[in-house]
Amino acid sequence: MSSIENEIAAARRVLHEAMELQSAGNLAAAAPRYRMVIEQGYRVTEVRPILAGILAQLDAVEEAMEQWNALLAVEPDHAVAHHEMALILNRLGQTDEAIVSMEHACRTDPENPVAANNLAVMLSNAGRKREALREFQRALDLQPENVHVRHQLRRLGAEQVPFWHVPMMNDVRRNDAFEAAIKAAIATVGSDAQVLDIGTGSGLLSMMAARAGAESVVACEIVPIIADMAQKIVADNGYADQITIFAQPSTELQVGVELPAKADILVSEILSSDLLTEAVLDTFEDAHARLLKPDAIIIPRAASAIGCLVESDVLAGYSFVDQVSGFNVSRFGAFAAQKLPIHGTMTDWRRLSKDVELVRVDLTQRRHESDLHILSIPVLEDGMATGIVQWMHVDLAEGVTFDNHPDGYSDGGWLQVLHSFPQPIQVRAGQVLDLAVGHDRATLVVQPLEVVAGSAAIRAA
Ligand SMILES: C[S@@+](CC[C@H](N)C(=O)[O-])C[C@H]1O[C@@H](n2cnc3c(N)ncnc32)[C@H](O)[C@@H]1O
Repeated sequence: MSSIENEIAAARRVLHEAMELQSAGNLAAAAPRYRMVIEQGYRVTEVRPILAGILAQLDAVEEAMEQWNALLAVEPDHAVAHHEMALILNRLGQTDEAIVSMEHACRTDPENPVAANNLAVMLSNAGRKREALREFQRALDLQPENVHVRHQLRRLGAEQVPFWHVPMMNDVRRNDAFEAAIKAAIATVGSDAQVLDIGTGSGLLSMMAARAGAESVVACEIVPIIADMAQKIVADNGYADQITIFAQPSTELQVGVELPAKADILVSEILSSDLLTEAVLDTFEDAHARLLKPDAIIIPRAASAIGCLVESDVLAGYSFVDQVSGFNVSRFGAFAAQKLPIHGTMTDWRRLSKDVELVRVDLTQRRHESDLHILSIPVLEDGMATGIVQWMHVDLAEGVTFDNHPDGYSDGGWLQVLHSFPQPIQVRAGQVLDLAVGHDRATLVVQPLEVVAGSAAIRAA
């Protein structure tokens, strides 16, 4: 035998020993033998991945990385090396590098559902949800029967899209009101009207505008995965030529860039159950200042928060706390929810006053100041007032309104909201309860004046 043949025979023997030790579970003893095989230059590209894998299992991650890097130096597109490196980097908390490596693995082995799934998980953990969703979808396309991937895909989508989108879309009364206002606006301005839809969600209002004849609708949506979905829905419905969707907040739109010209019609349904929390005033002001013609039609043109004084044992249980198991924990009441979404028709509550307007915002106005005023509410019934149950009234166009009055509305996109008092207030029929109400541009303010130990600013009527 030549000396080369001897060396090969020796390396083969060591490799055989290493494999036996590995299959017996003795990784610590197998690793040095694999190392020797590599040093002898025998079947290096096959042995390195085995050794790197063992080293990772033995927590010798640095050496494992060295082995993978050495392999990549000769085979730059080795998918397994990129994949395994990514897993190690991820374990070490080097998320960005891990993602780059896993992306490389996916590029070099695009049919591998495990790599797609692992990349999706890393992207999701890094907060890159839109890309994560795309990768989960790719993993599912590669492996449609994989229940785990299907679950992750649904979980991630639902996690980023507030639950109220679907009941809101199913709210026929709301949809019809918007469509009536949109049709009237297009009929007034004409089909060459430039329409702007701020917060397009599924693309619904944009499609209504296009169906009403609008030739150019620009829509924007701040949540990228919702914008992606709207794009598909608009295309499914045959309106892709008329509607252009941008995955960005309205405040980043520019006339002459995304919006061909200042808009003739603004349609925007970004009202939250408590009216203002979706930055409504900032958004409308910005649109007036930059994106709309001075005489643009605004849909909706105004919105009000309406409410009434209520007594409710159920809601008191959410709003106040006092003696618990013989302990005085009343201080914790300071942290009780100041406002609580409720189902008006499902929650047990009793009205103690007539309906009163708390706040009204005129959305055709170019500027809004915060507002605080005293509202005197005549009490109609004796009771222990828990707070104010509030809902909305939306004025969309001449003769077109919509509200979610709790007596007749449930399971739409909007809930009613309890604005709880800091403490329950004993009230009697015939008295007047003075509240400070208004808004700070972003939230509604509803505060009883000077509440002191169960009594507030209550006067005889
Ligand atoms: C209540 S949903 C309405 C969706 C759709 N317009 C409809 O009526 O069915 C409001 C949407 O507006 C988006 N949004 C809120 N403010 C926005 C803004 N300033 N720019 C872009 N999108 C916004 C939210 O992410 C949400 O998807």
